Amino acid sequence: MPDDQSVSPSKVAIVGAGSVGATIAYACLLRGVAKQIALFDVNRAKVGAEVLDLNHGLQFVPAATLDGSDDVEVCRGADVVVITAGAKQKPGQSRMDLATANVAICRELLPRLLAVAPDALYLLVTNPVDVITYVTLKLTGLPPARVIGSGTVLDSSRFRFLIARQLDVAVQNVHAYIAGEHGDSEVPLWSSASVANIPLDAWSVPGHGHLGATERAEIFSNVKNAAAQVISGKGATNYAIGLATAKILEALLRDENRVLPVSSLLSGYRGIDDVCLSVPCIVNRSGVESQLPIPMSSEEEAGVRASADTIRKAIRSLGF
Ligand code: 2OP
Repeated sequence: MPDDQSVSPSKVAIVGAGSVGATIAYACLLRGVAKQIALFDVNRAKVGAEVLDLNHGLQFVPAATLDGSDDVEVCRGADVVVITAGAKQKPGQSRMDLATANVAICRELLPRLLAVAPDALYLLVTNPVDVITYVTLKLTGLPPARVIGSGTVLDSSRFRFLIARQLDVAVQNVHAYIAGEHGDSEVPLWSSASVANIPLDAWSVPGHGHLGATERAEIFSNVKNAAAQVISGKGATNYAIGLATAKILEALLRDENRVLPVSSLLSGYRGIDDVCLSVPCIVNRSGVESQLPIPMSSEEEAGVRASADTIRKAIRSLGF
């Protein structure tokens, strides 16, 4: 845990005080991500209660101030605006089913947020996050580097957890990415996955599991169905997306040059243009500095192209 001195003197505004937004605030407090955290939600009672509850724990975390309001003014001067507002998936719903409703919410919110935080980085979490990231880019006219989606940071964390469990190794030693849509068309990049720099295709350590076709298919199915599994049990996901978003915020605010599979605008990336999706990117105080040319098998590359087509089709259907 960072000491008080290492907490960056910056402000994060979180739009939406639902379970995801409140958990992002909680994760940021625990990790000392920012000196100032502001929660904005149209539901005055909810945002007031979340802020009160979080403030009651300030003694136990690195120094920070936290306030909230149903007035967008509370977001003024934010270095990063995190947007979580919107409808959530219900059991049986896909993330894409939320597109029309959540684009409408963004249309209403973005001009108000730009008025109080014109120089901020914008970090989208609202689903379908790749579509929402693209639409935010178009509606704000901000430079692409400054409009970022949480993308498959969460999916890649799920992927790594499941690989680590299968091989009985620490998840921190697993390097593996999910690329493409944060959704049904996402792609597991098995060909570049490794543990301790050992490619998974060459993994053979006695007592530490096996990753054949069956195990790989099961792992990827569990990644894709993870949200539905959690939602069916507790109604929404919040902890892992909260931690994933805090990690992205750390990379942005501490200028870390951290590699994260966030969603950003692709232009000429393996011939993919004019769509937002996730590939490993270098993330720092400027936002998305660059997208990395991670090696892909021909099958993986075809999958990412198909994912781009899926997202682009949804974007066009919304009139963008
Ligand atoms: C998740 O994957 C619902 O997109 C959210 O947990």
